[in-house]
Amino acid sequence: MSEVARIILDGVEYELPVITGSENEKAIDISKLRGMSGYITLDPGFKNTGSTKSAITFLDGEKGILRYRGYPIEQLAEKASFIEVAYLLIYGELPNKTELDYFTNSVSNHTLVHEDMKRFFAAYPNNAHPMGMLSAMIASLSTFYPESQNPNRPFKDIELTMHRVIAKLPTLAAQAYKFSMGHPIMYPNNDLNYTENFLNMMFALPTDDYEIDPVVEDALNKLLILHADHEQNCSAATVRIVGSSQANLYSAISAGIAALWGPLHGGANQAVIEMLQMIKDDGSDLQKWVDKAKDKQDSFRLMGFGHRVYKNFDPRAKIIKKAADDVLDKLGIDDPVLDLAKQLEKVALQDEYFIERGLYPNVDFYSGIIYRALGIPTEMFTVMFAIGRLPGWIAQWKEMVENSEPIGRPRQVYVGATERNYKPLDER
Ligand code: SDX
Repeated sequence: MSEVARIILDGVEYELPVITGSENEKAIDISKLRGMSGYITLDPGFKNTGSTKSAITFLDGEKGILRYRGYPIEQLAEKASFIEVAYLLIYGELPNKTELDYFTNSVSNHTLVHEDMKRFFAAYPNNAHPMGMLSAMIASLSTFYPESQNPNRPFKDIELTMHRVIAKLPTLAAQAYKFSMGHPIMYPNNDLNYTENFLNMMFALPTDDYEIDPVVEDALNKLLILHADHEQNCSAATVRIVGSSQANLYSAISAGIAALWGPLHGGANQAVIEMLQMIKDDGSDLQKWVDKAKDKQDSFRLMGFGHRVYKNFDPRAKIIKKAADDVLDKLGIDDPVLDLAKQLEKVALQDEYFIERGLYPNVDFYSGIIYRALGIPTEMFTVMFAIGRLPGWIAQWKEMVENSEPIGRPRQVYVGATERNYKPLDER
């Protein structure tokens, strides 16, 4: 006997099906509600509303659980390579050797971007934010592959587009950085793995070899894995809704990058470091800033704190916090901002305001400290988030396409002016 929810509207009782997920999450299926009753539901920010059924990522905000295709994030961050995790998210299973070689080689063979794209970079002001460039560049990629506009192309073409985006995003990200520095770009080197290749394109110069520090490569691999997917977050939901109109994958990813840029989302990793630096420059009076964050009259928020879903702790933040200690120790870096971050976390987590609202450090609170130690400039932090999140966005888009989900088009409750007649100018 399938479960139902009963709702009484205008004296009439309606039954709505209840669905249960593989982790026993419950949902009321309201897809027929308007047809039956004329009523819709309202939920700004979709805090209580599911948009889809997904088999990609499971997270439990109360228990601090995060799994990609059933695999705990703690195991993947410790044992897997980022390219393996990208395959897992997109195809649903960890790859065997043949599958991993196929995927790795296909991505490696598409790391170059058309030489004409250099002209795009040259047109930007030299202080252009890399997220603005990257979002535009990814959308522009679609103009070099017009066949990707066709929404009904065979899977092999779709797969090639997915591999192209994964291959070219790091190349374009590194080129954005090189242009901002006024340095010559470094071309991809297919003898290097995905993370080594990115580091080389970022930091190598034609004048001297860049030696890849395994500590740096390992930390980057871990960070990219920890950012790879997070179910229906703001940017993933954006990618799905843009893709639902049958816009091409490049455009959907470009929109995801734009959504991620916001300081309430992925842009928080840059905002955290800027906030910590500001607190440090202001004399490190932590209680003062914690009090400002609590003050409803003050727009200041503790960046890197709080989460829509995690109300105990963000499992990624725990892993990144430990990795920050390890990386800085191995690199022999003493970053006072890390100590300040730890002290700020301590002060905040002793404060009733934060405790009763379940506000804990999220994935963005400590990640910037590691990026900084790796030599990544602050304005590139959210670009790093985008490189990590890309396989998740692609997996979410692919699932939406494979499930032939309808175009996303929310309803609304109209609260504006009721009907009225036009008035000539001299009567207003
Ligand atoms: C990411 O969704 C995802 O999964 C995102 C992400 C991913 O992997 O994709 O995890 C990545 O985006 C992490 C979040 C990064 N953003 C920040 O660190 C920015 C700072 N955090 C907040 O702006 C906020 O916590 C959000 C945006 C993350 C969550 O906002 P919600 O869920 O809409 O919660 P809310 O704004 O309704 O806050 C609830 C209460 C409010 O107070 P009251 O109205 O109850 O009195 O908590 C307060 C808020 O004022 N609050 C904060 C706060 N975050 C929430 N107060 C001070 N500082 C904060 N950071």
